Amino acid sequence: MSRVTELLGSRYPIIQGAMGVICNPELVAAVSEAGAFGLLATAFAQDPEAVRSQVQATKKLTNKPFGANLFVMNPLAQEFAKVFAEEGVKTVTVSGGSPKALIPFLRELGMKIIVVVPTVGVAQGAEGLDADAIVAEGAESGGVQGLKGVSTMVLVPAVVDAVKVPVIAAGGIGDSRGYKAAMALGAEGVQVGTRFIATKECIANAMYKERIVESGDTGTGLVDMGRFRIRALRTQLVEKMIKGEMGPDNIFTPAAVEAAWVKGDLEAGVLPAGQVAGLISGIPAVREIIEEMVSLNRRREG
Ligand SMILES: Cc1cc2nc3c(=O)[nH]c(=O)nc-3n(C[C@H](O)[C@H](O)[C@H](O)COP(=O)(O)O)c2cc1C
Repeated sequence: MSRVTELLGSRYPIIQGAMGVICNPELVAAVSEAGAFGLLATAFAQDPEAVRSQVQATKKLTNKPFGANLFVMNPLAQEFAKVFAEEGVKTVTVSGGSPKALIPFLRELGMKIIVVVPTVGVAQGAEGLDADAIVAEGAESGGVQGLKGVSTMVLVPAVVDAVKVPVIAAGGIGDSRGYKAAMALGAEGVQVGTRFIATKECIANAMYKERIVESGDTGTGLVDMGRFRIRALRTQLVEKMIKGEMGPDNIFTPAAVEAAWVKGDLEAGVLPAGQVAGLISGIPAVREIIEEMVSLNRRREG
């Protein structure tokens, strides 16, 4: 048993990354049922009781452990943490800002804490604050990232050298080659986001999944949001933002992401995805992805 599987209570050291409003209970439960670790997300949540319903719906679908993400920029993060503790969710990832204020609160609740970091300095800070593990998230990742942009290939071994707690690699991992590469860099687990969007179980709009499948290696770009950036598919909206023809207002609100990610309204918001979209060529069931990822012989996609 690795330090990461011991921490998560799962068979494989694979975390399904939090993905805002598209971490539906069916996806989270399917990931946990297949031996990895599903994660509910709260970045855009506005109501602790709605979060409780998600936990309860997931518990109906699986008896296996799953966790949740707390997004520091969401002012209700502590309220959500209380709900998770009450509902028996024992492990959380913390992302989207400094975990300093949240960690003592989570410790009081008896949570295991995994902090998502973009640089070595932030990783060392998180270890100093008593994190149980670190997710080192490289710049090829889909979704929100900092302004400094260190790639997974460099960030993971640098963080492994800098901290003693287990390191979980994120960013660019979508198949057994990425999984093995992460382990070769010294990671003891992986966190996978984009690959789990293009699955049968994910609630994301069919068009979103198809765009990921169609995307090549240059199919994503970075959108400037001021204090942070978002890696997203190069839709017309993203091209306009990259050219400076449009600002970031209202494209990353709960209503906008629901409209774009779930309903497929490409005018409403951007579709976050990582560069690994260029390696994705099908929309299988979650279990197939996890089984291929941990297998010794890679099965070519498509
Ligand atoms: C659509 C989308 C939404 C995301 N939302 C969150 C989030 O709410 N909280 C978080 O910690 N990370 C979020 N992420 C990052 C993922 O959890 C994960 O770390 C990342 O996708 C890993 O890189 P990959 O996309 O190359 O697999 C999101 C990523 C995507 C693609």
